[in-house]
Amino acid sequence: MAKIISFISRKGGTGKTTNAINLATALHHRGNPVILVETDTNYTLTALRQMELLKAGEANTPAFEILGSHDSQVADELLRIKQNQNLDFIVVDSAGKTTDEGIKKLCLVSDAVVVPTSLTQNDLLVTYQTITDLAPARALNPNLKIMVLPNRIHSFTRMKTIRESLSNLDAIVLEVMVPQKNVFVNFSTLAPEPEYEPVVNELLKNLT
Ligand SMILES: Nc1ncnc2c1ncn2[C@@H]1O[C@H](COP(=O)(O)OP(=O)(O)OP(=O)(O)O)[C@@H](O)[C@H]1O
Ligand SMILES: [Mg+2]
Repeated sequence: MAKIISFISRKGGTGKTTNAINLATALHHRGNPVILVETDTNYTLTALRQMELLKAGEANTPAFEILGSHDSQVADELLRIKQNQNLDFIVVDSAGKTTDEGIKKLCLVSDAVVVPTSLTQNDLLVTYQTITDLAPARALNPNLKIMVLPNRIHSFTRMKTIRESLSNLDAIVLEVMVPQKNVFVNFSTLAPEPEYEPVVNELLKNLT
């Protein structure tokens, strides 16, 4: 049955969409059937895909499905997709404005939640709060994996510093980081970023 990996955060702009795209695109290119679900009603990913297909020509561009949903219905929809489709993974890009209740509902149906965070003091505080607030959801879904993905990391940042600043969290701090780098913001749902492979490997390693 498909594994549901949801990108969440109580703050906007932490890198949910960027990393959800990169993960789904990389999984697809590895040969893992995947569907990407976005709950942001701006439907950024759906629009991006339409633009890409227009440019590349639909016929020669096999692509994974992108589905637009909404916080109020996404949990039910995910359970339905999980039952009905022959998928390995469902990647969910949740909206920055998702309410605490929406985040909780998503966590109840997910196998893993990924919280991207930069190392600014503000982002770290929000990450602490996001994960602390997941305690009730995890009590109901004990198999839920909570992962922190260090994002927008500068080359001079030491991994040790990251681990120390997040060590009190009851979560898996992934032993990989997404650098502050233009290559990772080359938004595409068709062309994978080869540099993203270590992130995918680390994520999948912690999912099983
Ligand atoms: N690793 C990175 N390196 C450079 N820029 C990044 C990186 N990750 C994200 N960004 C940039 O930060 C901005 C916010 O990223 P993104 O849209 O992925 O965040 P989000 O969490 O989905 O935001 P929202 O909550 O509004 O949906 C974008 O302009 C994106 O290009
Ligand atoms: Mg987003």
